[in-house]
Amino acid sequence: MKRIHESILETIGWTPIVRLKRIAPDSIHQYWAKLEFMNPGGSVKDRIGLHLIVQAEKRGQLKPGGTIIEATSGNTGLGLAMVSAVKGYCCIFVMPDKVSEEKQALLRAYGAQVVITPSALSPEDPGSYQSTALRLHQEIPNSFYADQFHNADNPLTHYQTTGPEIWEQMGGKLDAFVAGAGTGGTLSGAGKFLKEKKPTIKNVLADPMGSILFDLFYQGRPVDPTKPYKVEGVGQAMLPMNIHLDWYDEVLHVNDRDAFQLTRKIVSSEGICVGPSGGMAMAAALEYGQRLSKPANILVLFPDTGRGYLSKVFNDQWMRENELL
Ligand SMILES: Cc1ncc(COP(=O)(O)O)c(C=O)c1O
Repeated sequence: MKRIHESILETIGWTPIVRLKRIAPDSIHQYWAKLEFMNPGGSVKDRIGLHLIVQAEKRGQLKPGGTIIEATSGNTGLGLAMVSAVKGYCCIFVMPDKVSEEKQALLRAYGAQVVITPSALSPEDPGSYQSTALRLHQEIPNSFYADQFHNADNPLTHYQTTGPEIWEQMGGKLDAFVAGAGTGGTLSGAGKFLKEKKPTIKNVLADPMGSILFDLFYQGRPVDPTKPYKVEGVGQAMLPMNIHLDWYDEVLHVNDRDAFQLTRKIVSSEGICVGPSGGMAMAAALEYGQRLSKPANILVLFPDTGRGYLSKVFNDQWMRENELL
């Protein structure tokens, strides 16, 4: 393995997969986790940070001295900010106010400008983080709107990297791939690759309660109104182009309580410091496993590190205040 690199960008990808032995010791299944927080910027989003910028450069959408604008719950911002620091671009990130302060501070440390909008607004609202990012892009000359929700380079990144890595690392011995979806890039891209390799692999979406994806998948329309939830980065109030529901096999609903409690359990029992969206995906994976009668290899994607949520999931007072303990 090459251990000397020309820049930090060469260390993105090829994250390890670890077998989870203590989270469900009596299960007939083997559970595996792909540790995407071991990317250099701390999340799965480093992959698209690099790929979206490289593709935009190739297409002439991003020129020297340009500004990258994105609507992001933090991690995509970190990926883009890290790549921009190496390549010399400016960044402006727009995000909802529920994003943890640790993540906001880190973005500023990479030199990015952060714009905060209210969480409870629908995407069409002119004050939402999505609408605000688009407006800034229209107003600022020589800017590139990364648009992770609709940019097809996002799932393509995972089709070309995350999916092939999982396939090779597991030696093809995989029955189910479980992940949350924010933009859908991870599950759509990696899931598509894995299914092309082995059509019996099931792509399972873990969806937080309050998001519309569960209803859209099973009923074809939102039935229950969207509700605020605490897990960051996953679930949706709209259907972005990169969530390809017809590429998924199952959608499981997870409540905040299960997601946050399981996050803590993964850290304390497996020694893996994962963030709450990984705990949520794990909760869905365990529920999915309970439905299977034959032993299966189930892989869960852990998108980011728990270190970004010290004041939340690992803070008893915050957990109690939010009725999660
Ligand atoms: C913490 C976290 N987990 C999971 C995801 C979901 O990944 P994707 O956007 O590829 O669906 C995101 C996306 O923003 C995220 O920030």
